[in-house]
Amino acid sequence: MKTLISSDVRLLANLIQEGKVVIFPTETVYGIGASTKLEAACLRVYEIKGRPKDNPLIAHFHSIKAIEEVCILGDLGRKLLEKFSPGPLTLILPKKDKSLFPKELATLAVRIPKNPVIRDWIELTGSPISAPSANLSGRPSLTKLADVIRYFDGVVDGILEAEEPSFGIESTVVSLVGKTPALLRPGSIESTELLSILPDLWIPEPTAKNDIRAVPLSPGTKYKHYAPNARVVLATTEEFLYSLKTMSESTLTAWIGFSWTGKEIIGLEEMTEKQSLGKNHRFCSVSSNEDYASKLYAFFESCDLAGIRTIFCEVPKPERGEEGLRNRLEKATGG
Ligand code: TXA
Ligand code: MG
Repeated sequence: MKTLISSDVRLLANLIQEGKVVIFPTETVYGIGASTKLEAACLRVYEIKGRPKDNPLIAHFHSIKAIEEVCILGDLGRKLLEKFSPGPLTLILPKKDKSLFPKELATLAVRIPKNPVIRDWIELTGSPISAPSANLSGRPSLTKLADVIRYFDGVVDGILEAEEPSFGIESTVVSLVGKTPALLRPGSIESTELLSILPDLWIPEPTAKNDIRAVPLSPGTKYKHYAPNARVVLATTEEFLYSLKTMSESTLTAWIGFSWTGKEIIGLEEMTEKQSLGKNHRFCSVSSNEDYASKLYAFFESCDLAGIRTIFCEVPKPERGEEGLRNRLEKATGG
């Protein structure tokens, strides 16, 4: 199949109207989308990703008004969207339009992406766009055009070229359909910010691996997620520094974290010859939790390409951005 790679939103909107599958960037990660009104097109997205059928898709809209036409928004939903949209917030709402994909569900996950070019494209298609993250099921989401092309050129009908993702981890997902609002997936919009509008928000324990409420509420949470082929080790700063100090020249190992400036390892007096990074090693230096999140998935991809066996990830800083990042790191360790 020939994949149309273009920044022409009109051409790519035509593809969606014809029932085709198009990959597009959002501020969080790339999405792989089809018209929410066309069931067969949405089902092809599942086939391409190898995604389990019981894991529903987020519908991407260009405006709050367009969401209201097909869902029951309510006061809380409106307040949340007015405060956090366009942006990385997904709401689970009751459906008004029962014909939308997935037909068998009474609820719809909705979100308005931040990039105006993407909203223009969605508007041009005349439909919301149902899209999971553009990655093979279980693998980390993609944040770089080059990685998208490597996996999906010749597989999807189109790739919309626009500003690459900058947040780097998937949207915060909040359900407004249960008895109490629930945080189904942490992300860049943090629970502390949501509490101002949702004081009774149910927030799962960060380390609860088999929370009974998480499974029925959000089908996606029961599947393995965001994991590269390499083994991921979530390391305290001390463990991180120790692993650097004791690295062997021959093992394919990588590090991502704060305690490295590119020249010296913070906390180690000086690097000896043995400790300098060789061809078997990769390193990614980050300056904040946000910077860490934005670089994480692309680093995982590059490590897998290089055949890296173990990736040491330094724990996030106990400040803004920790919640979503820690969740993805724990998932990547297999937790
Ligand atoms: O940032 C993002 O959210 C990206 C971009 C492309 O928008 N999308 C994304 O989609 O991460 P995906 O499919 O990888 O994750 C969607 C999550 C899944 O955990 C899914 O189970 C949940 O949202 N979800 C979707 N519809 C739902 C529904 N009706 N009820 C409960 N959970 C739902
Ligand atoms: Mg995903």
